[in-house]
Amino acid sequence: MNVLVTGGAGYIGSHTVVELMNAGHEVIIADNLSNASADVIDRIEKITGKAPEFYRINCCSEILKSIFARHRIDAVIHFAGYKAVGESVRMPLQYYRNNIDSTLSLLEAMEYGGCKKLVFSSSATVYGPDNPHPYKEEMPALQSASPYGWTKVMIERILTDYVTAHPDFCAVLLRYFNPIGAHESGLLGDDPNGIPNNLMPYIGRVAAGKLEKLTIFGGDYATPDGTCQRDYLHVVDLAVGHLRALEYAMEHSGAEAINLGTGKGVSVLELVHAFEQANNMKLPFTIGARRDGDLPAFWADAEKAKKLLHWEAVHSLEDMCKSAWEFARTH
Ligand code: UD1
Repeated sequence: MNVLVTGGAGYIGSHTVVELMNAGHEVIIADNLSNASADVIDRIEKITGKAPEFYRINCCSEILKSIFARHRIDAVIHFAGYKAVGESVRMPLQYYRNNIDSTLSLLEAMEYGGCKKLVFSSSATVYGPDNPHPYKEEMPALQSASPYGWTKVMIERILTDYVTAHPDFCAVLLRYFNPIGAHESGLLGDDPNGIPNNLMPYIGRVAAGKLEKLTIFGGDYATPDGTCQRDYLHVVDLAVGHLRALEYAMEHSGAEAINLGTGKGVSVLELVHAFEQANNMKLPFTIGARRDGDLPAFWADAEKAKKLLHWEAVHSLEDMCKSAWEFARTH
């Protein structure tokens, strides 16, 4: 199949491209490299033995249509978008413009190219602050704590409305929990610009001696050890989930929201200790104030993905910590 992957040079996008290519699909990447490096394309070639077709373009533009004019695209996986929660609070207009516009431009380009299969990169953030965990897909998912999260809620809405108007279209809305870890080759991983906001890249920089110590945001939550709990899953498991979602989309129509998580909650302290144990090191950390907007605990109900996609996460926390460190150590 010919699969267009927007944002295919990013952290989750690049891992997904590798899985798609290894499964024999032809991949076309559209990415403006606003938060990724051109090296990633070379590294994908090193891993798979083949270069993906790459267009350095902004997905908010009409140029997207030219890809559909040039290639017969069977399906699209849409990752392109801004993704930093804190930044989105400071720059809401840019987030709404970029994330919503790119989706609308993509849908128009898909219509132009007659493509009716889409897998969208959504997030557990759409469950908002009020749902009890584990989060289930049928819970109301119409709110969020940040403009970033709201763009995911809005795009889910746009895609659902689009499917109502075009019942032969399929949109799979994948709600990710917390992807961490890196590719086993050591060539792909999470490498944000500047000081990382997310936990694992921060831990990686502390372990590499580039940052002095980790500050754990809050030690007084009503959780077993007082630190927040999340559902961390290996990015390669997440990438494989996209492959399964694509297979599902080819056989179905309609809009379907599906969680991709392990179904288990792990606390920040547990993750820190797992990292220390997996990599045989001590990680300097201190417990600091809570971070605004953080929820105490949430994880996925992972049953729907098992049932509809025949997918479940298989990598252990140890795999996640080892691969994350291997990547951080060498980059
Ligand atoms: C956030 C977003 C999520 C997004 C994800 C990746 C929300 C509610 N969640 O998840 O949608 O997909 O980022 O971009 O908007 N922590 C520390 N110290 C640090 C960094 C983090 O203790 O230096 C803690 C946080 O308090 C949290 C956990 O680690 O409990 C995970 O944080 P993070 O990696 O930023 O992800 P989330 O906030 O869960």
